[in-house]
Amino acid sequence: MKLLVTGGDGFIGSNFILNTLKNFPKFEIINLDAGFYGSNKLSLDQLSNYNNYEFVKGDINDSTIIDNLVSKCDTVINFAAESFVDRSIANAKPFLKSNIDGVFTLLESIKKHQKKFLQISTDEVFGSLEKESASEIFQYNPSSPYAATKACAEMLVNSYHITYDCNTVITRCTNNYGPRQFPEKLIPKTILLAKNNKKIPVYGTGKNLRDWLYVTDHCDAILSCLHHGKSGESYNISSGNEIDNLTIIKKILSIMGKSEDLIEFVDDRPGHDFRYSMNSNKLQNELGWKSKTNFESGIENTVNWYLNNSKWWENLSEGIFEHTPWKK
Ligand SMILES: NC(=O)c1ccc[n+]([C@@H]2O[C@H](COP(=O)([O-])OP(=O)(O)OC[C@H]3O[C@@H](n4cnc5c(N)ncnc54)[C@H](O)[C@@H]3O)[C@@H](O)[C@H]2O)c1
Repeated sequence: MKLLVTGGDGFIGSNFILNTLKNFPKFEIINLDAGFYGSNKLSLDQLSNYNNYEFVKGDINDSTIIDNLVSKCDTVINFAAESFVDRSIANAKPFLKSNIDGVFTLLESIKKHQKKFLQISTDEVFGSLEKESASEIFQYNPSSPYAATKACAEMLVNSYHITYDCNTVITRCTNNYGPRQFPEKLIPKTILLAKNNKKIPVYGTGKNLRDWLYVTDHCDAILSCLHHGKSGESYNISSGNEIDNLTIIKKILSIMGKSEDLIEFVDDRPGHDFRYSMNSNKLQNELGWKSKTNFESGIENTVNWYLNNSKWWENLSEGIFEHTPWKK
């Protein structure tokens, strides 16, 4: 099978490529990435001599490059996106460009070449939920500009399935953690701040809940959907592992033997959703996927990975040590 993976130099895309080539050594993968925020060239360094892996630098909005690559592949898996909610609040424009326009360009191409398309989406499209867990047919209710662009992309993908009979699958995942995540996100940021004995800013009360999934479990779920997912369907990927931010930070400090005095409460971010939650009954019952990594071992692996791979992050961590308060 020949895959075009877009956004493969980012956190989940790079883990997906490594995980796939480990489990399916006969697969061929082309990774197209624009080298935007979130990417790191070092993530896939180890593949430079593989003859079934190719890197192409480019933007998913470039229809000429996309058409050429899509014509050579069986399936496109789109990870490429602007992904950091805080940045979407400061400036939403790049999010519209990559997360909506870019998906449109990919869809036009898979329609033309009649290829399969997997769109990697997020639980944030359902917005904040009080008690219930969203199923696949829940109503979109995004709060942040980031989440709104991802919901919009999902609707575009569905429209290409319904209108043009394109072969599409949407996967929708909860918060991921693990190696190779950009240091501005909660878990790596906490690890690197704690390592340097710097204050760790906690938004609001720190009680916001997210359902955390180890990144390789997400990658396995995507592979299940690639092989067995039904066209026109979407699949939620979650493990029911809801933990609040403060508990996560305290857990990391305890693994690293650091004091909780490093914790500093700061003003909450605007529109900060309190809780995301989805059930993944469909994926588990229909495709047999189950998460394998419990949080205890996953978070320990993650802390150790960052502590042992300073070369990966040392040129990226500039700026994460200062907290800029939100303007009211
Ligand atoms: N991180 C999570 O917890 C999470 C959870 C659910 C879903 N997702 C989704 O998974 C996908 C990957 O997320 P991530 O955390 O790996 O993001 P990331 O920011 O780490 O990586 C995104 C990658 O996409 C590339 N990219 C962005 N715009 C591009 C464009 N126009 N053309 C080509 N490349 C472009 C960037 O250069 C980067 O390498 C995203 O679509 C995100 O919405 C992420």
